[in-house]
Amino acid sequence: MTQKRTGDVPPMGWNSWNTFYDKYDAGLIMEMADTMVERGYLDCGYQYLVLDDCWLEMERDAQGKLVPSREKFPEGIGPVIDHVHRKGLKFGIYECCGVRTCAGYPGSFEHEMSDAATFASWGVDYLKYDNCHRPSSQGSELLYRRMSFALRSTGRDILLAACQWGTEEVGTWIRSTGAHTYRSTIDIRDRWDSISSITKERLDHLSDGGPGCFNDMDMLVVGMNGSGSNPETSAEGCTPDEYQTHFALWAMLNSPLMIGCDLRKADEGTRALLQNRDLIAINQDREGRTCYKLTCTCSPTAFTLVRPLSGGDYAVGIFNFGEKPCMAGLPFWDMGISAASAEGLHFHDCLTHQDMGVYKESFSAQIPGHGCRVYRVGAFTR
Ligand code: GAL
Repeated sequence: MTQKRTGDVPPMGWNSWNTFYDKYDAGLIMEMADTMVERGYLDCGYQYLVLDDCWLEMERDAQGKLVPSREKFPEGIGPVIDHVHRKGLKFGIYECCGVRTCAGYPGSFEHEMSDAATFASWGVDYLKYDNCHRPSSQGSELLYRRMSFALRSTGRDILLAACQWGTEEVGTWIRSTGAHTYRSTIDIRDRWDSISSITKERLDHLSDGGPGCFNDMDMLVVGMNGSGSNPETSAEGCTPDEYQTHFALWAMLNSPLMIGCDLRKADEGTRALLQNRDLIAINQDREGRTCYKLTCTCSPTAFTLVRPLSGGDYAVGIFNFGEKPCMAGLPFWDMGISAASAEGLHFHDCLTHQDMGVYKESFSAQIPGHGCRVYRVGAFTR
């Protein structure tokens, strides 16, 4: 198999922001790295461990260099990065294209070349690059281009994750900056209406994003269950069906899969969902195609996403954003299969991992409120 290059598939990993905000330190980060490996997350593809905002001292040093928080990292950040690398993981860090990060720490504006060189010298593999406190004269397109140039100049392979929140029609220009992913929507919160509104925004831009530069719908809230110390992200939590729908949507819609819960406390249900290999395989499909959307006659709040996969299969996700269960039908005609061809489709259930046999002309399933069904389907010719 050919080695994947950075940006070929959506990145997968863990990020500190959703649960920990500014409340983390070297010990916690190293424990999270251990957990990612010991509990099988790395084996499923979650390879990046990303430190979000609040890892810095409030001021640069006399040479203008970034200084990691002395309180959080009393021995410097080097031993943490080494630990992460020794575990077989990759290390990510956060900065911002403005003069300050969103939480008020020094930003990279007009320090791009030297900050990129610092990151490369530390062994950083991933940079989440935010969009706060930009001088009003500066558009974000130029500043993302600048950091991309700076990172590429280091000669180190560093994934650039632009955190641009979906403003300024980012999907139309971000690919040309050299960024590998871009936040296509606003910040997520740990509740259903946030998941559904991010998805609705995304459904209006289905054709943007793909290999080389994937759209990022924000970190996952799966497994947070209303916990978390981040006032900007924490909320009442979601039901198991809602978390499943969230993960299935992010997988189908080509978003990075960046876990945001405390993996040390994840229960079996959370782990099974985050490690669902059928859904991960859809997300990581090497063709990286986008979905098309079909409406469901059963309910105005239900819809089907269909995504061609490499090798000839299709991913089919049926989603019900309504409160009540509904019976959703998928006429194969809408997928391009003529009734006269007598062509059938073989269904594999990606949530239960069961083979469901062959269906002709159409398929229907009961979908719970805020729930989904996801299948991998393949042509079956007698
Ligand atoms: C926001 C960003 C969040 C988080 C936060 C840190 O702009 O969307 O994901 O990184 O900044 O302050």
